Amino acid sequence: MRLAVLASGTGSIYEAIVNAGISVATVLVDRPCKAIDLAESDNIPVTAVMRTEFGKDFDRNAYSTEIVTQLQRQQIDVIAMAGFGTVLGKPFFDAYNGRVLNTHPSLLPSFPGWHAVREALAHGVKITGCTVHLATLEVDAGPILAQASVNIEVDDTEAKLHERIKLVERDLYPATIKTFIASMEHQS
Ligand code: GRF
Repeated sequence: MRLAVLASGTGSIYEAIVNAGISVATVLVDRPCKAIDLAESDNIPVTAVMRTEFGKDFDRNAYSTEIVTQLQRQQIDVIAMAGFGTVLGKPFFDAYNGRVLNTHPSLLPSFPGWHAVREALAHGVKITGCTVHLATLEVDAGPILAQASVNIEVDDTEAKLHERIKLVERDLYPATIKTFIASMEHQS
């Protein structure tokens, strides 16, 4: 199975995947980000599909089709989103239906969307966590594969809490990816 990791941020979740011994065929990015440097120092090919438009003129379907073209060219079978900052459209999920994983920093279905950690804090919940799920066209709504909880402390800030959630994601996500790939290999 050839795995692509999609990232836009610091790449710490990508790094945890590599450190868990999972073979990564490419790191695909949508913008300049630290994940590129990490991949280069790991000698993992970077696939850059840079977004030039972030406003209302962004053509989500055309961009998604370009991503599919790049991934298929590299014979990618499975995709792990790891802090990827672009919501992908129907062409992507048509091509890779049931083969896209995501990790999200809340206990879904609570707090979907970009500000999950901030919203959990603002809501005053005492326990949050992370969810690994199959990504589908509807954002943060696909079938849940694994979850782990994180307690919220009285003096938490968004940054502190997010970092504690990421500590958990760095174990849970690679473990879930391994199980998922093993079950796909078993089926094929
Ligand atoms: C993680 O918390 C993940 O759940 C979210 O984006 C974050 C990525 O972290 N989707 P990093 O950029 O890999 O450090």
